Amino acid sequence: MSQHFEIHERVPGFVAEIAQIGALCELTDDVVRSLKATWAEYPVLVFPQAELDNRGLLKFARCVGEFGADPYLQPIADDEHIVEVRRGAQESTPIFGASWHSDWSFQVAPPSGTLLHAKIVPSHGGDTIFADCYRAYETLPMTLKVRIENLTASHSAAPSYGKQGLFAKDDHSRSMRIIVSEAAEASQSHPIVRTHPESGRRGLFINHVYTIRVDELDPGESQNLLGQLFKHMTQDDFLYRHQWQTNTLVLWDNRCVVHHAEGGYAGHERLMHRITLAGERPYLKRIEPALKGD
Ligand code: SIN
Repeated sequence: MSQHFEIHERVPGFVAEIAQIGALCELTDDVVRSLKATWAEYPVLVFPQAELDNRGLLKFARCVGEFGADPYLQPIADDEHIVEVRRGAQESTPIFGASWHSDWSFQVAPPSGTLLHAKIVPSHGGDTIFADCYRAYETLPMTLKVRIENLTASHSAAPSYGKQGLFAKDDHSRSMRIIVSEAAEASQSHPIVRTHPESGRRGLFINHVYTIRVDELDPGESQNLLGQLFKHMTQDDFLYRHQWQTNTLVLWDNRCVVHHAEGGYAGHERLMHRITLAGERPYLKRIEPALKGD
């Protein structure tokens, strides 16, 4: 409920469309406060017909948070905080973002959120699929919840941006400006179960692209556990498929959502503008055992 805009629930507790909010680049403090509260309730927010130029998009992004750092993508010439997710009609390289991930989860403090604004949308295909990692955690059997409670996992950009990574094998058809670097070989450990700083809810914080191992397990066990968790978190019940229209803006929360980009538009162009929002170091808030005598 908000007195400032309409909230049309698309998936209960996960995805909502925001309507009648007015120009996104001219929101008052009250509206922004209400929007942030709505975002804590619905980790994916959809803003249809958001006609924003780059300045307007940047202004809206600054209402929601601070700008994040995008290490392996060249920003557009006019602004260091906007990157193009672009695919030309004739490209033959793998689609950017085509496997499940949470943006830049290999960073010490990965982005809280991402804004994606549709500039050129193919007539078919090119959907983005989102998975609800709160529900994934909440629906795990108790034995598995207990097993993963104290485990951490390493995240790395190497499989994507390392010298032997996916993008190192690109041919010259790629129109996005991706940077392959030795720096991508580093890894960063995060708890597998993460407490969201705003909602206080727990979610799974692992993903297919960047999570490379469970730190406390041997390689075989680690692979088995990650495989089991990945399968669970991306089951149909937890997904939302977003079909884009030109000028739609989507804001998602990387702390409790994974996503991937779909293809299906060979021969057509697709262009999105993306901004990441700075986040905090992931943590798991322990649940205090009930005090004796309570
Ligand atoms: C991304 O993963 O940031 C891009 C998603 C998309 O292009 O749909």
